Amino acid sequence: MGLTQPQTDIIKATVPILAEHGVSITTEFYKNMLTENPSLYKVFNIANQVTGHQQRALAGAVYAYAANIENLSVLGPAIETIVHKHCSLYIQPADYEIVAKYLLQAMKIVLGDACTEAVLDAWGAAYWQLADVLIAHERALYQSTDGWTDWRDFRIVRKVVESTEITSFYLEPVDGGKLPTYNPGQYISVQIEVPSLGGGQMQARQYSLSDVPGKSHYRISVKRDLWVDSSSTGKASPGHVSNALHDTKNEGDVIRVSHPFGEFFLSADEQQASTPLVLLSAGVGLTPMVSMLNTITSTTPTSKKRKVHFIHCARSLASLAFKPHVSNIAKKYPNVATTYFLSNSPASEAKTAGSNTRTGRMSLSALDARKDLYIDTPETKYFICGPSGFMKDMEAALLELGVAQGNIKMELFGTGGIPAGAAGAAAARAAAKKKQAATGGGAAGGVCPLHVAGFAAVGAGVGLGLYGKGNGVVEGRWWQAVGFGAAAVGVLAVVWGTLRRC
Ligand SMILES: Cc1cc2nc3c(=O)[nH]c(=O)nc-3n(C[C@H](O)[C@H](O)[C@H](O)COP(=O)(O)OP(=O)(O)OC[C@H]3O[C@@H](n4cnc5c(N)ncnc54)[C@H](O)[C@@H]3O)c2cc1C
Ligand code: HEM
Repeated sequence: MGLTQPQTDIIKATVPILAEHGVSITTEFYKNMLTENPSLYKVFNIANQVTGHQQRALAGAVYAYAANIENLSVLGPAIETIVHKHCSLYIQPADYEIVAKYLLQAMKIVLGDACTEAVLDAWGAAYWQLADVLIAHERALYQSTDGWTDWRDFRIVRKVVESTEITSFYLEPVDGGKLPTYNPGQYISVQIEVPSLGGGQMQARQYSLSDVPGKSHYRISVKRDLWVDSSSTGKASPGHVSNALHDTKNEGDVIRVSHPFGEFFLSADEQQASTPLVLLSAGVGLTPMVSMLNTITSTTPTSKKRKVHFIHCARSLASLAFKPHVSNIAKKYPNVATTYFLSNSPASEAKTAGSNTRTGRMSLSALDARKDLYIDTPETKYFICGPSGFMKDMEAALLELGVAQGNIKMELFGTGGIPAGAAGAAAARAAAKKKQAATGGGAAGGVCPLHVAGFAAVGAGVGLGLYGKGNGVVEGRWWQAVGFGAAAVGVLAVVWGTLRRC
């Protein structure tokens, strides 16, 4: 049942309160829910709790929901991300009761007297309206998995070191059953015991499938996360699951695995298409790209003709995974180009690696936009995966070259979305350049402030909206709600500017 008008009005009235207290509410919520239901730690990521990423992701989601309570359609892509993540962790309808209890309780604790019975009633109704949407989407997704609706035991049949940082695990189902296919780019969740946490504590993480679908095994390729928190405590906080996989899981061991999920992938149509493809990755972000490359070069008839550029940045040759494999593909398929950037290596190392290897961080300006990035073909698709700063830089550079936003897809190996940033400004600059070229206009003297503000708002809004997959500084695709709002204002400003012929 939908909300009544008075309930809707209350939700709208609480938007500024959520902007101020949202993270306090979700922090209180997680603290109480996880303390009183410790078994939930099996699915909640302990590190995302400690770093606050998950608290900020949920606060962003709740805020965007309230801000768009009368226009929920804008939340579509954000809902997809949540639903795929939830399904990969086997979240069930009954779990929503638990979240409802602790979320409303946290609102009351944090907001105190301001949280009247009427506010609680409105938020109870609003929560269930959203929960029902998620539950319905999740039910549909579970029904598409051919009966694989819970964690399934997989045996590690091969463990292969791919570089100093990355190791691959080949996984076969213990039940000997068939493996469903997936779209290259999708991920599975893996659930294992983490000895460093003690008490038999299980944790779950997502890993992109790094090989071609249709085999009798799945393959994941995991980077050992050795991050050191020098800013605050100076202590090392090695990642729980990646280190446990590297150090304690060996051939013959059994781990729990989910059905493949995820919305960053090369669709069946895109696999068959003949349009060019640019795969941009940094670090372990190459795993979905290797899956895409393997798929299009092994299964599709267009694979010998279609232009593909695999562009990757690693710290050094030693940390670069899959180089011999990708080089063999490039040798076999002249239509496949490869370029490597080594961000932390001397020029001599890059030189010995070959003419397609450069030193320094990945920079698209070091490449030829037409020959290397195929920008003359407007249908060219660009897939980006790596740290959020890297993805924002690549996105901004592509937008600046005039690539359409709809042709850029990105995946963050984390929770809560990519922080908005340079992309909006790049879109604004690209739009301004186009306008200048179209009108033959000269320098800044003739620039209309309404157009500038409008394009900036559209750029920032669409950038924020479409690509708000972040690291928790700005929370997730939920920001697309905010983004589309800004974009709408921007469009109005541009239209008004045009009507004024400035
Ligand atoms: C869709 C998706 C696909 C992915 N695909 C891959 C893939 O193909 N390969 C891959 O290797 N990874 C992939 N990941 C990332 C993966 O899921 C894990 O996030 C990664 O392996 C790190 O997990 P961990 O348990 O080792 O680290 P965690 O324990 O989750 O720690 C994460 C970070 O938080 C820091 N941290 C932990 N505790 C503290 C603390 N107390 N204080 C401060 N900082 C702390 C850690 O140092 C670390 O840097 C993917 C993620 C997603 C969402
Ligand atoms: C209306 C209710 C809910 C909302 C709005 C919501 C929202 C979110 C969001 C925004 C994310 C981050 C998605 C991403 O960027 O990857 C997320 C992840 C997650 N959610 Fe929910 N969620 C809800 C209900 C639930 C329930 C009922 C459970 C189970 C108890 C649950 C468990 C999780 C878990 C385990 C994750 C992954 C956490 C991590 O990896 O750190 N959620 N949810």
